[in-house]
Amino acid sequence: DTEESLKPRPPVVTIMGHVDHGKTSLLDALRGTDVARGEAGGITQHMGAYQVKTKKGDLVTFLDTPGHAAFTQMRMRGANVTDLVVLVVAADDGIMPQTIEAIRHTKAAGVPMIVAINKVDKPEANPQKVRERLLEHEIVVEAMSGDVQDVEVSAKTGHGLDELLEKILLQAEFMELKANPDRNAEATVIEAKLDKGKGPLATVLVRRGTLKVGDIFVVGTESGRVRAMLDDKGRQVKEAPPALPVEVLGLGGVPMAGDLLSVVESEQRAREVSSYRQEQATAKRTAMAPA
Ligand code: GTP
Ligand code: NA
Ligand code: MG
Repeated sequence: DTEESLKPRPPVVTIMGHVDHGKTSLLDALRGTDVARGEAGGITQHMGAYQVKTKKGDLVTFLDTPGHAAFTQMRMRGANVTDLVVLVVAADDGIMPQTIEAIRHTKAAGVPMIVAINKVDKPEANPQKVRERLLEHEIVVEAMSGDVQDVEVSAKTGHGLDELLEKILLQAEFMELKANPDRNAEATVIEAKLDKGKGPLATVLVRRGTLKVGDIFVVGTESGRVRAMLDDKGRQVKEAPPALPVEVLGLGGVPMAGDLLSVVESEQRAREVSSYRQEQATAKRTAMAPA
């Protein structure tokens, strides 16, 4: 893409942190939804993808990750598709194993971090202790004269949420995030599943270009044609610009999370690429199988 083809795009922000530190609740508070209440056992088990419009009209894309120890792969993926990470630390519970894991993924991905110290409404909250304990993991927040932004929040009362959004937008502005919207789309698969009624479904995040209804694509070893797209509120959209997460209908099979979806010029080309990739995958499996 040429310099002049690049247009500003919304930031992609991944929310990470230890189980039950309030990641989904924070997103619910920002979006005016109640996803957390509907979760089985109160545990996030999938990656959620949402776009929020601020009061000033700025767009921010959020990826919610699970905090449960079992979902390391999802957290790693989350850190790798994002522009910045919001590390959620509950002010009563403090630094816990998946907090440390999230710090490691963020550092490995080389993306900036904002620390959201959550649950400050609780009497036992101790935000200062969180800041001090973060030093042990080489995270020096602003309040400790470092350069990592931190903000005290409460998903319950809404305290600090505007400030959190402001810090995200400031960081994003600094990064000058851009993408070319006028080209064949490329998108990353965030989640994929087989739905009984709708068939194979994939939630994708558009990286560049604009994904359109009718587009022919290859994704991993699968191919397809976009039959419909739904945004995070279940509304049909005809076009998905850079940084918009959408659920895509019209896949030939279920791709894998992390796969890249690329729009191609013809069905023939899609078939060629996907069958080549299938052969490669089969060859790899055969080579790896014990003799
Ligand atoms: P996983 O995705 O399963 O890792 O959890 P999570 O980090 O998304 O946390 P979740 O939003 O499920 O919240 C866990 C519990 O903490 C729920 O009971 C929330 O109601 C509660 N909670 C979240 N934020 C706050 C807060 O700011 N204050 C108080 N008092 N409770 C909170
Ligand atoms: Na939870
Ligand atoms: Mg959650």
